[in-house]
Amino acid sequence: MAARALLLGFILVFACFSDTCFAIIYFSSLQRTLVVTASHPQRLLKAGEDKITVTWGLNQSFPAGTDSAYKTIKVQLCYAPISQVDRAWRKTHDSLSKDKTCQFKIVKTPYTTTNHTSEWTIERDVPTATYFVRAYALDAQDQQVAYGQNTDAKKTTNLFEIQAITGRHVSLDIASVCFSAFSVVALMGFFFAEKRKGGKAQQ
Ligand SMILES: *[C@@H]1O[C@H](CO)[C@@H](O)[C@H](O)[C@H]1NC(C)=O
Ligand SMILES: *[C@@H]1O[C@H](CO)[C@@H](O)[C@H](O)[C@H]1NC(C)=O
Repeated sequence: MAARALLLGFILVFACFSDTCFAIIYFSSLQRTLVVTASHPQRLLKAGEDKITVTWGLNQSFPAGTDSAYKTIKVQLCYAPISQVDRAWRKTHDSLSKDKTCQFKIVKTPYTTTNHTSEWTIERDVPTATYFVRAYALDAQDQQVAYGQNTDAKKTTNLFEIQAITGRHVSLDIASVCFSAFSVVALMGFFFAEKRKGGKAQQ
């Protein structure tokens, strides 16, 4: 019985390793079929305040049916090469499971054949760097099958800069950190007080 369960477990794990769970997808194998544009009020943007408007659609020069497997579009904010230098944690890897180029989600929506526009307020945790926007088309298994980006293949055109919140709203952020620390301490105090009360009641 146990041996059978173990065997079944092995088969499951193996099946998982061999295809769906750990399929390795290389960026270089993806076709660039999406046309992506990003518009923003100026080239230097402020995290937590400024907005980016992203538009994407299928490049009509590809034959009909190119997009038949596309189920979802995932749009991300990605580091430009200049902001990856000497930063292993932002490094580009051809294997998408290791790639750290695109770390911020802008939007994820079901794929439609028509052009789609989405407005995104840059999130407060986005660090100061130079960026571009990339969209991936995902299939039913949530795996990348195609892409598009608002820059050229070498990632040199249409880049924009984001200035992080640090330095602009420092006092506010310090206040919120202090407040969080205070709540944790208060909660712990409450917990121990209750525990002591419980202990006394038992005696
Ligand atoms: C659409 O795809 C064709 C063929 O790959 C390419 O030459 C063209 O530049 C693309 N158009 C846009 C707007 O990206
Ligand atoms: C979608 O966008 C592309 C590129 O910006 C444009 O050439 C095309 O006409 C648009 N299609 C529609 C249906 O708006």
